[in-house]
Amino acid sequence: MNHLRLGINIDHVATLRNARGGAHPDPLAAALMAIEAGADGITIHLREDRRHIRDADLVLVRAGITAPLNLELAGTKEMMEIALATKPHGACVVPEKRAEVTTEGGLDVAGQHHTLRPIVATLASAGIRVSMFVDPDPDQLRASADIGAAVVELHTGAYAHGRPGELERLVEGARLAVSLGLECHAGHGLTYDNVGPVAAIPEVMELNIGHFIIGQAVFEGLPQVVRRMAEIMRLARGSATQAVV
Ligand code: PXP
Repeated sequence: MNHLRLGINIDHVATLRNARGGAHPDPLAAALMAIEAGADGITIHLREDRRHIRDADLVLVRAGITAPLNLELAGTKEMMEIALATKPHGACVVPEKRAEVTTEGGLDVAGQHHTLRPIVATLASAGIRVSMFVDPDPDQLRASADIGAAVVELHTGAYAHGRPGELERLVEGARLAVSLGLECHAGHGLTYDNVGPVAAIPEVMELNIGHFIIGQAVFEGLPQVVRRMAEIMRLARGSATQAVV
């Protein structure tokens, strides 16, 4: 069974730092520690309101790690220019509303394809792997493939909230994504308790997890949480292999 990558979203290290206005805790130090503990990559979301990660963090993390950096960003000209200047390994386009506390739903790629298509083309031509953060909705997956995205990240928020039928939608969405030639990732709201069934979907290649990991690090320490999450994912992936064989 292929290795399921774990991307650690360190936004909320910056949230904590910003609460006191100083330099501690340092997002780059957290990124390095997560990688040392086995994370396959680091994710940060430079929001338009800069409520957690700031421009200087992006520059420091980009320069300070060798593991892949996945930059989440709104599909705007400003963000596209920042991505072109910093050249992360990947860019994941997410919907952004100022008043939301987190990314509440998937991107409407089908409804915004005119705006998104040139952004995807420009980022891809700079060597950045472009991803769309979408709900597991066939129309959105088809639109993502149609505008030339390389990757879709399936929004697991509704699944994490226990909405009936969501795991099945993720399973079917992952299959459809791969059949359309897209690499499939997933994330949002994942925890020790709910990650297993998503990790077991064989088409999913990467999970991006943030809030739970940083919160749980208060109790267990960041390296231990990263190791434990990676182990839960590995075991869930392994039992999926056995079920298929
Ligand atoms: N993936 C994307 C595209 C996101 O926007 C977020 C939240 O920033 C996550 C994954 C991680 O979600 P959580 O912090 O709930 O683990």
